Amino acid sequence: VEVDWTLEAAEKGGFPHYMLKEIYEQPWVLENTLGGRLREEEGDVDLGLALDPREVERVHFIACGTAAYAGWYGKYLMEILARIPAEWEVASEYRYRDPVVDGKTLAVAISQSGETIDTLEGIREAKAKGARTLGVINAKGSSITREVEEVLYIHAGPEIGVASTKAYTAMLAAMALLAVRFARARGTLSKEAAQALIREMRKLPRLVEEALEKRPIVAHIAEKYHQAQDFLFLGRHVQAPTAYEGALKLKEISYIHAEAYPAGEMKHGPIALIDERLPVVVLATRGPLYEKTLSNIQEVRARGGKVIAVATEGDEEIPKLAQDVIYLPEVHPLLAPIVSVVPLQLLAYEVAVLLGRDVDQPRNLAKSVTVE
Ligand code: G6P
Repeated sequence: VEVDWTLEAAEKGGFPHYMLKEIYEQPWVLENTLGGRLREEEGDVDLGLALDPREVERVHFIACGTAAYAGWYGKYLMEILARIPAEWEVASEYRYRDPVVDGKTLAVAISQSGETIDTLEGIREAKAKGARTLGVINAKGSSITREVEEVLYIHAGPEIGVASTKAYTAMLAAMALLAVRFARARGTLSKEAAQALIREMRKLPRLVEEALEKRPIVAHIAEKYHQAQDFLFLGRHVQAPTAYEGALKLKEISYIHAEAYPAGEMKHGPIALIDERLPVVVLATRGPLYEKTLSNIQEVRARGGKVIAVATEGDEEIPKLAQDVIYLPEVHPLLAPIVSVVPLQLLAYEVAVLLGRDVDQPRNLAKSVTVE
C-alpha cells in the first residue's frame, strides 16, 4: 500500500495550501492574541507594557503591505477610542521624508516577520528622533523586536503562505487591544463601555468561525467572476482598510488587477471605471456609515456595475441592490473588519485556485523583504 504522507502534506494539516490552512486557523489565532489579555471585570486589557499611555501625545504606525492596513485600522481606533492624534504610513515613505517626531511620539512598527527592512529602518528613524517605540510583531526575537523598547506579540503562530492572512486578523485584534488600553489610561472610555467592547472582542473567534462557513457562497462568486480583468473594492470608516486588504489579497495571488477606494471617494474618479464587466466588492456591514454605503452601492448599480456585498445577517435592503451578498454575523461596528476580511481572503483564494495560480508562492513576491 502506498501512503501519500509527505512532510509537507502533514504540515498543511490536510489543506491543499498553507494559505487555506492559515485562513482556517484564524479563530484560534484570535483566541491566542486576545486570550489572557482581556480583563472584563476591570474593563481593561493587560498588555504587560511599561509605557504610560498618558505620556504619549501622538502615535505613528509604520509598516509595509498588509501590516500597513492594520496600521490604518489602528489609527482609526486610536483616535476614536483614545482621542490621540494617530497616523499610519508605509515605512518606505516614512523613513525618507524626515517625519515630525519628538519624545511624546509613540512609533509603532507592525510586522509579521519582524524583518522587513523598511519597517526596521522606519522605526530606527523614529527612535533617532527621540520617539518611544513599540513593536506589534509575530516572529519572536526578530530584528524589529530587538530594536524597539517593548513588544506586543500577536501570537499568530508561523505563517507560511506568502500572502498574509492570520497575521492580519491578529494585528487588527492587537490594534483593538492597544486602543482600549490607551483609552482606559487616558480616561476617554468609561469602564462600562470598555467592558461592553471586551465582551464583543470575546465573541470574535466564534464570529470568524461563522464567517468561514460562508466559503461555499464565496466559491460560487469566485466561479462567476474569476475571468474579470479588474475588481474594485469599496469600504468606509474602519472598513476602508478592509477594502484595501481585500484588493491586495486578490492582486497578490490571482494577479487580477484590483483597486480599492474609500467608498465616498468613488465619485471623484473611479466611478468612471464602472461598467457591466466590473465586479465591485462593497463592505456594507452595519455601522456608522451604513446608509452612505447603500447610496454608494446604488451609484455602482446605476452604472451597470456588478455588486458583491458583504453585509450583516438579516439585512433585507442589500439583496434588493446587490447581485451577490455574503452575509456575516452581527458584530460591534468597530470590530467588524476582523470578521469581514475573512470572506475577502477566501475570495482571493478561490479565484487564484480557479486560475491555476501558485497560491502559496505567488510570482515576484517574498514572505519577508529584507532588502530595499
Ligand atoms: C511582504 C509580504 C507581504 C507583507 C509585507 C510586510 O511584502 O509579501 O505579505 O504584508 O512583506 O511583511 P511583515 O513581515 O513586515 O508584516
